Amino acid sequence: MFSYIIGLVALLVVFYNPIMDMVSHETAPQLRRTPLGNLNTTLLALEDDGAPNGTDLQCPHDKYSIHIYSREPLVIYIEGFLSDDERSHLLEISEPIFAPSTTTSDGGATTNRDTSVRDSEVAMIPRTSSVRCIEARARALQGWREQVWVERLRTQRYYPGGHYNHHFDWSSGRGGWGRVSSFMAWVGDDKDLQGGGTEFPLLGTRTDQRWCRFVECPDGGQAEDGEIETGTVFKPVAGNAVYWENFRSDGTGRGYKESWHAGLPVEKGVKVGLNIWSWGYIE
Ligand SMILES: *[C@@H]1O[C@H](CO)[C@@H](O)[C@H](O)[C@H]1NC(C)=O
Ligand SMILES: *[C@@H]1O[C@H](CO)[C@@H](O)[C@H](O)[C@H]1NC(C)=O
Repeated sequence: MFSYIIGLVALLVVFYNPIMDMVSHETAPQLRRTPLGNLNTTLLALEDDGAPNGTDLQCPHDKYSIHIYSREPLVIYIEGFLSDDERSHLLEISEPIFAPSTTTSDGGATTNRDTSVRDSEVAMIPRTSSVRCIEARARALQGWREQVWVERLRTQRYYPGGHYNHHFDWSSGRGGWGRVSSFMAWVGDDKDLQGGGTEFPLLGTRTDQRWCRFVECPDGGQAEDGEIETGTVFKPVAGNAVYWENFRSDGTGRGYKESWHAGLPVEKGVKVGLNIWSWGYIE
């Protein structure tokens, strides 16, 4: 019994610090929070905005299945996020309003068009009932987080050569508010599409063969023995989506470097994707 206690004390001496580091966050600098102030809702897809398309919304049951790709940062692969009907509807409503994409480095106050950085077309799509059901699905997957709003949905179209260089979806987490999460969903079903994957060069690699349906696998699926690889390229698979979180939830307000990503150039065919960004309180 006595030696057991000695052993326990020794164990506590060895592990006390790591355990305390795990349960308290005192080691990392805490975020300085500013109040939300007046929320500019122009670009947000508010749930209860009283619009006719939003009243008595009847959405189909979710039919997707999920696979966790990474726990830190949280990256979830979603099979069957969009139905075939939803995909055709998205293509139909986007077609007449596609316009050249721009980029911003200050949250949208100024925008630039630079085709060396981003070469695609974007459509901020109208909030039809079907679109509202997709918004609701994105909110539900995130557990209806408090003070987090889905932004107005945008489709993107890429022709051969079309791409988006490596970037973060968040430009800052200033004051504890920012673009907390992203979905990339694949809308188009062009059988001739080549290239156009979504690359995360700093995200770890999963090597189980079963991932090869969804991500580029080296050498037809064989990872080299013992080699630790980084980097993941998600293939554009119609109807599927990838979801990831942009900020740590440890109260520091820091973003994940692993969320750095690019839309690789389309080599052949046309790629149409759907971006769903959520903006709000960084936990
Ligand atoms: C709200 O955001 C929109 C789009 O960025 C902008 O045009 C508008 O001026 C903003 N409104 C206010 C009150 O800041
Ligand atoms: C409501 O849906 C219709 C078509 O279903 C669409 O044309 C309209 O723009 C939508 N309204 C809004 C506010 O987005």
